[in-house]
Amino acid sequence: MDVARLRQQIPVCQRYTYVNTGWSGPSPLSVTRAIRDRLDHEMDEGPTTPGVYESGRDIQERARAGVAQLLNASPEEILLTENTTQGLNIVINGLPWEPGDEIITCNLEHSSVLVPAYYQQRRHGAVVKVLDLDADEPADSILAKVDAALSERTRLVFFSHVQYSCGLRMPVKEIGRLARSRGALMMLDGAQTAGQVPLDVADIGADFYSIPGQKWLLGSEGAGALYMRGELVSQVEPIHVAGHGAVPGGDPHRFEASTGSIGKFTLSSSSAALRAGMVESLRFIQDIGVEEIEGRNLGLAAALKSALCDMPRVRVLTPLDGAASTGLVSFVVDGVNAKDGVSQMWEKHRIVARSVAYPDSMRVSLHFFNTEDEVAQVVEAVSNLA
Ligand SMILES: Cc1ncc(COP(=O)(O)O)c(C=O)c1O
Repeated sequence: MDVARLRQQIPVCQRYTYVNTGWSGPSPLSVTRAIRDRLDHEMDEGPTTPGVYESGRDIQERARAGVAQLLNASPEEILLTENTTQGLNIVINGLPWEPGDEIITCNLEHSSVLVPAYYQQRRHGAVVKVLDLDADEPADSILAKVDAALSERTRLVFFSHVQYSCGLRMPVKEIGRLARSRGALMMLDGAQTAGQVPLDVADIGADFYSIPGQKWLLGSEGAGALYMRGELVSQVEPIHVAGHGAVPGGDPHRFEASTGSIGKFTLSSSSAALRAGMVESLRFIQDIGVEEIEGRNLGLAAALKSALCDMPRVRVLTPLDGAASTGLVSFVVDGVNAKDGVSQMWEKHRIVARSVAYPDSMRVSLHFFNTEDEVAQVVEAVSNLA
């Protein structure tokens, strides 16, 4: 991987040490250019002028096909969304909950998992079982806890593939096998995987998988996607609906709900420009190769974790084992409030990182464009804090 050449295409690399891709990744020039070009085209030619409207639809289809390829799914199983959270909400609010149905999740989760799950408890009397996991909980222990929590009332096992809080990579394939063996569905939040972990939803056994465009894929905000296993589309009721939610017919006195097509979740208009950016970001990442990216991110993270582990008063929360982690690294400096630590890293070193509330920690995201030098800068900044 020619990191120096890639960094030339990502302008923020020339200004700051940007280690916050897990929140939002910096777009390469080509992504921003694709968005701008599409907006210019619509401005110059008119958005509904014959040829312009059709090319916008073609862009949307190319985005779906690109996501399908990234996830090893069929385009008919992909819905373009605004972000990860929208996709998760479409599924969880559209499943038929009965009082007493159970959802299994865990304490390390993002609010985009926990809050939609708790709403099913509030609305339908579903039971949310929140497993207590350590930030570096070993895979066999996670599986034992999931196994013990599963019951004949479990309808959904709902986890992030990689925990945003501490970077723990969950043993999702084995969790999926357990869920299936007990007749439960598995939904995964892929906010921290798409673009840094090779993904194959069929191999994982995910029933639903939701991703953002703006994090490790380096696209813009406002363009994400949801995978829904084909046979399940008819079981998920669309909550927000418009024309695509009905079988086309034209008779205003007759209505027949569309059931089998994922298009039923699509509302009216959406931005072709943002999708043009998504197509470009998918191309950019696939050209580098997700497997290569994963290897590089793990190497950078291992170097950082190893240096932090040698530092007095610093505790690494993220698993040290590569198989249980990614480019996300969370740590605590004894006696330093995480928010203050992140502010100081910015003020004194121009490092862009973030703090996480639970477990209270600082988090650094290392993506392929980050360098060994930047890892050394983070190490120096943390050493100053400690
Ligand atoms: C695990 C996880 N889920 C959901 C989200 C929210 O992502 P989005 O803005 O794409 O909905 C994030 C963002 O940090 C995340 O880390």
